[in-house]
Amino acid sequence: MRKNKLTAKTSDIHDLYELSVQCVEAEIDFVLDIFKKRGKKAPRSVKEDFCGTASACAEFVQRHRDNFAVGVDLDTDTLDWGREHRLAPLGQDMNRVKLLNKNVLSVTRPKVDAVMAFNFSYFIFKERKTLLKYFKTARASLNSGGMLFLDAYGGSDSQVVLEEERKLKGFTYVWDQAEFNPINNEVINHIHFRFRDGTSIEKAFSYDWRLWSLREITELLAEAGFARSDVYWEGWDGEAEEGNGVFKPSQKEENCPGWIAYVVAER
Ligand SMILES: C[S@@+](CC[C@H](N)C(=O)[O-])C[C@H]1O[C@@H](n2cnc3c(N)ncnc32)[C@H](O)[C@@H]1O
Repeated sequence: MRKNKLTAKTSDIHDLYELSVQCVEAEIDFVLDIFKKRGKKAPRSVKEDFCGTASACAEFVQRHRDNFAVGVDLDTDTLDWGREHRLAPLGQDMNRVKLLNKNVLSVTRPKVDAVMAFNFSYFIFKERKTLLKYFKTARASLNSGGMLFLDAYGGSDSQVVLEEERKLKGFTYVWDQAEFNPINNEVINHIHFRFRDGTSIEKAFSYDWRLWSLREITELLAEAGFARSDVYWEGWDGEAEEGNGVFKPSQKEENCPGWIAYVVAER
């Protein structure tokens, strides 16, 4: 038996999560690219809301020696894991990351050039007034010229109870849309990890969210005082029959079974 064969026992859910759903290089590339395309100076400070393991903070500070990142998350254990596995390996660079074990609804300092809330984490706010409060808080923490970056998902399949499997190196990632309530648009999703030896980590992560529409999001951003917000839609790779990872501003698209978009709001 190969020594490094993954099983439920030998795996770490944070590692598996990052291998399955998060690409912080692409997230930071997107943020830097938007600043550049809009003729703004490169951001030197970012806040990663719902930062979890703070991987995006780690990526950002490695891009330039003057970069500074703040990560905010409620979960102490996840922050500790991030400190040990994502920040400590940075050596001196880790001094340019500050982690706050706080509610994102209460953090407006230090002010930063960009706020990022990725992996749909703000969908946790189900009430209109709470999401509005979050957007106002994010705006209050931005320097002049700063921008808030969000992602969102949707499409016809997002309202369907289903399990989607993706085979990755040594394990299978399962996205489980367990519930969708058409009355209030609330969803329950889980992530499971399954291994070749038959073991699994069921409900490694669970999400109790409201599936917000892009229109609701952009309207609330305007209400929160943002001067402008734009939706960036992903292009299509016809050969691979999947999104091509290139996001462009758009105002009209065809719906599809599953899409992911970015929303960029200017302070
Ligand atoms: C979907 S995970 C995303 C983690 C990370 N941003 C990523 O992309 O991998 C959601 C994270 O948000 C945190 N969280 C949930 N509600 C929060 C709140 N009100 N303030 C701060 N963190 C919160 C959870 O502890 C969890 O780590």
